[in-house]
Amino acid sequence: MHRRRFLHNVAAGAALLRLPPSWPELTVDPAARRLRVLVLGGSNYVGPHLAWAALERGHEVTLFNRGFTNPDLFPHLERLKGNRFAGRGVGLSALAGSRSWDLVLDTWHSEPGCVHESAELLADRAERYVYVSSIAVLGSYLQSALDEHAPTVDAAALVTSMDPDVGYAQRKRAAELAVLDRYGGRGTVLRCHTVYGYDAGAVQLDYWALRFLSGEPVLVPDDATAVLQWTDARDIGRFAVHAAETELGGIFHLINPAQPVPIQEFFTAWHDVTGRRSQIVRAPRAFLDDRGVRPWDDLRLYIPDDDPEPGFFRIDGTRAHGTGFAFRSLRETIADTARTFTIAPAPELTAGLSRRREFELIWELTGGGREG
Ligand SMILES: NC(=O)c1ccc[n+]([C@@H]2O[C@H](COP(=O)([O-])OP(=O)(O)OC[C@H]3O[C@@H](n4cnc5c(N)ncnc54)[C@H](OP(=O)(O)O)[C@@H]3O)[C@@H](O)[C@H]2O)c1
Repeated sequence: MHRRRFLHNVAAGAALLRLPPSWPELTVDPAARRLRVLVLGGSNYVGPHLAWAALERGHEVTLFNRGFTNPDLFPHLERLKGNRFAGRGVGLSALAGSRSWDLVLDTWHSEPGCVHESAELLADRAERYVYVSSIAVLGSYLQSALDEHAPTVDAAALVTSMDPDVGYAQRKRAAELAVLDRYGGRGTVLRCHTVYGYDAGAVQLDYWALRFLSGEPVLVPDDATAVLQWTDARDIGRFAVHAAETELGGIFHLINPAQPVPIQEFFTAWHDVTGRRSQIVRAPRAFLDDRGVRPWDDLRLYIPDDDPEPGFFRIDGTRAHGTGFAFRSLRETIADTARTFTIAPAPELTAGLSRRREFELIWELTGGGREG
């Protein structure tokens, strides 16, 4: 997973918040009750969006991390220094004692034992524990419309595991269990799809971002049946805070659009957001198959509807949508993502068609000309 660093210098202080130009405008009203919020991590990728969403609502935010990543982000917030591993440095000692929080927000994606330890330590002093998880816990996507009751990978034996070699899906599921088993209805698990948006983007998205931002012709699959789902980073933050304010417990699939969106809309959105500089060259499926161009591996995010696991982009997010999950439009998410590329160095692509191969295919398709 590629992670861009936050380059912004955010001045924050709840009601006295002053926004630097690169941060979103405040668009929400302050909450009726001010919550004391502890963000475990909070300085990279999704974490700052959690902190930001809490600040937007006027809550009091404390960050807990080692102080290594983006140390200048949120300079006005209280930052407790420590380590998720009890045996490293001061460990979790900054969280010991009698201090209590209304809400703990946790995004940990490594050893589930770390989530277990912090969840245990804070169980009697935290009103709600929200854990950011992933639809990866579902393990396979043979079926469509997988909801929160769908089977997951088995990770019951891994809840306290500190083994760094446990697979991602098992790690995330074990961490979910660590929270849900201890907190019951006070525990909230947010299973995200591929995360896009403001200073966030999965590696699969980088491929299309760099293609459309290049201004060169872009090869896309000419497939009207392929669809897409995602989760906007800012929307995760807002729902996490909403869940605490309205006491929503249990598991939620946080999927941005209520219905999967045709992948062609995604390409059109990128085209529009980047000023229609690139020309879209559509390649029929048979053309791609004949030349060994693979969906997903070569053309990122593209899953044809005859894929053996078509359910990946057909996850059921009804529960979250029915309980106040407010999500922004695809265009806004893409505009946010595109903006990120103007403030951070371009990532190196590790997957997808090489530029050279793409040009060869475009040349062959268009006979050297261009088509719109
Ligand atoms: N990418 C996707 O498409 C996708 C999809 C679904 C879900 N997700 C989920 O999104 C989340 C992303 O994680 P994230 O937003 O937190 O980003 P991250 O890049 O994992 O950030 C790690 C945070 O934890 C802190 N940290 C790291 N090691 C630490 C340690 N040993 N002790 C204490 N703090 C430590 C870091 O600060 P310091 O370095 O200063 O300590 C930083 O604030 C994950 O839960 C992932 O599973 C991602």
